[in-house]
Amino acid sequence: VIWIAGLGLISYLLGSIPTGYLLGKWLKGIDIRDCGSGSTGATNVLRNLGWPAGLTVLIVDIGKGAVAISLGRWGLAGWSNDLGGLAQAGVLILLGLLAVIGHSQPIWLRFKGGKSVATSLGVLLALNWPTGLATLGVFLVVLGLSRIVSLGSIIAAMSLPIWFWVFGQPVPYIGLGVCMGLFVIWRHQSNIQRLWQGTEPKLGQPVSSTQ
Ligand code: G3P
Repeated sequence: VIWIAGLGLISYLLGSIPTGYLLGKWLKGIDIRDCGSGSTGATNVLRNLGWPAGLTVLIVDIGKGAVAISLGRWGLAGWSNDLGGLAQAGVLILLGLLAVIGHSQPIWLRFKGGKSVATSLGVLLALNWPTGLATLGVFLVVLGLSRIVSLGSIIAAMSLPIWFWVFGQPVPYIGLGVCMGLFVIWRHQSNIQRLWQGTEPKLGQPVSSTQ
């Protein structure tokens, strides 16, 4: 149990690494949370600091989720005989959720971070890559059609449990899909309001009001 708690703490702290905030400070001396949508995620970094910074945040934030799951698998490898398959899946799910929560509620930034889209994608790719790729596909199609990142994120989050099911994953993973999807949608409340009002900016455009 202590071992699992330790892995959980590492996952949360990994997710908490405030990539977007650090780049904002280093590159421009700004607090990214005072700019645009107020999110520390790649979309807001791209909006305020440009493509290279946005892509860097995207890649690192995907990596945080993927590394949390990979570390978890490595950490559980020695216990595979004692833990049943379902229990192992349960622990990995917990680690994934903690990394996702860490990204949007980072301890270093008084729990005000990003919207967990990239970190969730990293978790998905590491847990079950077909589900990750299919969810990414939904995101890219919606983004391509609408040019609105948040709309892509919200619809991809809705599709997430369906992909776990389509690719024959165990029921706990489908449960993870529901929880993660709801969490990501909950983090997009201000975007949903702007979408409703027709004021949500397209990719790279400024936001008229902060969240
Ligand atoms: O990945 C977050 C994206 O869906 C929305 O970001 O900055 O436009 O609120 P933002």
